Amino acid sequence: MTGRDGYELLDSGEGRKLERFGDVTIARPCAQALWAQSLPRGRWERAAAAFDREDGNRWHNRSALPASWTIETAGLKMKLSGTDFGHLGIFPEQREQWRWIRETVRAACAARGGRVSVLNLFAYSGGATIAAAQGGAEACHLDASRGMVQWARENAALNGLEDAPVRWIADDARKFLAREIRRGRRYDAVILDPPTFGRGAKGELYKFERDLPETFSSVAGVLSDNPLFVLFSSHSPGVTPAVAECLVRRAFKGARVECGEMMLQAADASMSVPSGVFARAAFGGNPSGGAA
Ligand SMILES: C[S@@+](CC[C@H](N)C(=O)[O-])C[C@H]1O[C@@H](n2cnc3c(N)ncnc32)[C@H](O)[C@@H]1O
Repeated sequence: MTGRDGYELLDSGEGRKLERFGDVTIARPCAQALWAQSLPRGRWERAAAAFDREDGNRWHNRSALPASWTIETAGLKMKLSGTDFGHLGIFPEQREQWRWIRETVRAACAARGGRVSVLNLFAYSGGATIAAAQGGAEACHLDASRGMVQWARENAALNGLEDAPVRWIADDARKFLAREIRRGRRYDAVILDPPTFGRGAKGELYKFERDLPETFSSVAGVLSDNPLFVLFSSHSPGVTPAVAECLVRRAFKGARVECGEMMLQAADASMSVPSGVFARAAFGGNPSGGAA
């Protein structure tokens, strides 16, 4: 692998984004790209493969993609593969959060003289779990999909973390939280990126608008007596940074809250594209020096 970062947003516009994942360039939908494209059409047409939702979910030239490949970005290695929904196993807009998690956990472990425990809910392919483990956390990784949990385990192994203290759980987030509260199990930090609409391990429906209040109250119920942070992120329509901040502020009164847009980063920062929002509640001291 070359020294350059494994991810780059090459261009965006006209409802599309052109991204480089390692040496593989892919064009995909990007609803928020309301502007004109900057690169010439020929550059877009040279993408190895393209995905659109114009006529149902559809790949063009999917066979040109490797069955799977690995990139290194934001200090972690991730296995990628083209899925039927146009996802690749990574949400690169989360990279800034992964860096923050790693550094915040590292500083807290040093300050506390031991591991902190981190729960990652709706954990997908494990970027946040791996960042927490790299920082020295003891982690619990939860996702409803067995396939995604397996994918995350492979990613952990790619990062030399196969023996790290991580519990890998395929379950419904609401059921799991209720069980952890009953058992009295507590975590110093919780990360959650709930889907707008999702299915639990046994088909349980997760609906963002219906279930979010209960999820936040359960997250408060599993926090330890010396909590470190709660990191909420979302791609759901209507969730602006200010809405995310309100959610987190109301759930964790007295915490220091930071919020913002997650960005798909281009080499020229002025060409980066907002893609989802985050809000972080930090408690107690300020081990990362970041949260204000
Ligand atoms: C938006 S993705 C999370 C992306 C991830 N945080 C990241 O940035 O890499 C949503 C994930 O939630 C999982 N999911 C959906 N419904 C769920 C439920 N009821 N309980 C647990 N996980 C669920 C899906 O399997 C999927 O992996």
